[in-house]
Amino acid sequence: MAKKDNYACSACGARSSKWAGRCDACGAWNTITEDAGLSTGPGKGLGAARGRAVALSDLSAADDPAPRTESRVAELDRVLGGGLVAASAVLLGGDPGIGKSTLLLQATAAFAQKGLKSIYISGEEAAAQVRMRARRLGLEDAKVQLGAETNLRDILTTLETERPDLVVIDSIQTMWLDTVDSAPGSVSQVRAAAHELVSFAKRRGIAVILVGHVTKEGQIAGPRVVEHMVDTVLYFEGERGQAHRILRAVKNRFGPADEIGVFEMTGRGLAQVRNPSALFLTDRDAPVPGAAVFAGIEGTRPVLCEFQALVAASPLGQPRRQVLGWDAGRLAMILAVLDARAGISFAGMDVYLNIAGGLRVSDPSADLAVAAALLSAVRDNPLPAGTVVFGELSLSGALRPAGLSENRLKEAGKLGFSKALLSAGTLIPSDGTIEAQQYSDLAGFVDQTFGASDS
Ligand code: TYD
Ligand code: MG
Repeated sequence: MAKKDNYACSACGARSSKWAGRCDACGAWNTITEDAGLSTGPGKGLGAARGRAVALSDLSAADDPAPRTESRVAELDRVLGGGLVAASAVLLGGDPGIGKSTLLLQATAAFAQKGLKSIYISGEEAAAQVRMRARRLGLEDAKVQLGAETNLRDILTTLETERPDLVVIDSIQTMWLDTVDSAPGSVSQVRAAAHELVSFAKRRGIAVILVGHVTKEGQIAGPRVVEHMVDTVLYFEGERGQAHRILRAVKNRFGPADEIGVFEMTGRGLAQVRNPSALFLTDRDAPVPGAAVFAGIEGTRPVLCEFQALVAASPLGQPRRQVLGWDAGRLAMILAVLDARAGISFAGMDVYLNIAGGLRVSDPSADLAVAAALLSAVRDNPLPAGTVVFGELSLSGALRPAGLSENRLKEAGKLGFSKALLSAGTLIPSDGTIEAQQYSDLAGFVDQTFGASDS
């Protein structure tokens, strides 16, 4: 008989028959813990027992679209893909203290207002604490039923009789099942609890939102399988000391991923930021060296933000490369391309790159904006006032046009920008509000924007 795989890696979910310091599957250290596993599941040996025939259908069979409810909190509805889908499971991850409980209390109140019967289960705080927060948010009259409980058997029994439309579980790491023989927060408890809740939600047509804590590495604590079990994975992010928060869809079976919603934490809860570009741009009268405004797209929405670069002679043998809000590997690539294709070397210099306002950008067309910020910093020469930049840079130094360029430029025009530095072949809106300069390669961009050589 095969040995039972009683251990699991909390990073990748791989199972093994013995404990080890390092997971063989993903290479992570100290992630293997004892894990009794689910009582059901594959590997039990079905033998010759016969199941029931599964109903099959054509791909063309007509389905009703999944019913959705909008909270009318537009920043939330958009990230959910146009409202909350009935019988769906959502996982909301984020650092402790970022505002997950606040967001979900406000969201539940908004959904309750739209007629969803809503239950908020807190496993972290006493009911009195949640009520105190509700008062602070001015939501004490919202039609939300509150429960403070961590025993999932009791919670499911309650939901079975109450039959709500929406239930929030804050947080999945505090829930425990008496059928699983390990502590709350362990891999097996988190996975079993999520499995029970998600299948209950599907069976009973309830939308369930699970709160998940995030580990130091920035992933939702507990095995990856929880992310696979749910329909939608949202992350709530923000920098400590800054008031604004970004809600980001990283997976969504019912809508586009990468969509963001922007909020601001105020003394009375989270307020929507309807024009995030204004938030991420710095107000100043005269342009400064090292700054380049990037006209980006986050999800489906154009968002303008400012890249700021600082380049200084380094006292260190190995100069510093510090990046906030962007990919460090991508910065190394841009520096290498600037060196190899345009003859601009950053050797012996510390390079700092930052996105103002704490936004995180992953749009590849930020390359040209980064290159512009770096060039402007190293030449100590500001870009012309009112200019936006975008374009993707290849290793050969060629510039490729970005998608959705017209949306980007229209947004820039709305915010008062009048010039754009772009890759050749970029589509530009015909209304003439933006004067566009297009470049086919990096060397041409450097020559025409910053002059051929150091002055
Ligand atoms: P919370 O929702 O408890 O975070 P999480 O559930 O992600 O751990 O929010 C915690 C922080 O938000 C806390 O530091 C206080 C702050 N806050 C406000 O600034 N304004 C408010 O109206 C509320 C309710 C919280
Ligand atoms: Mg909380």
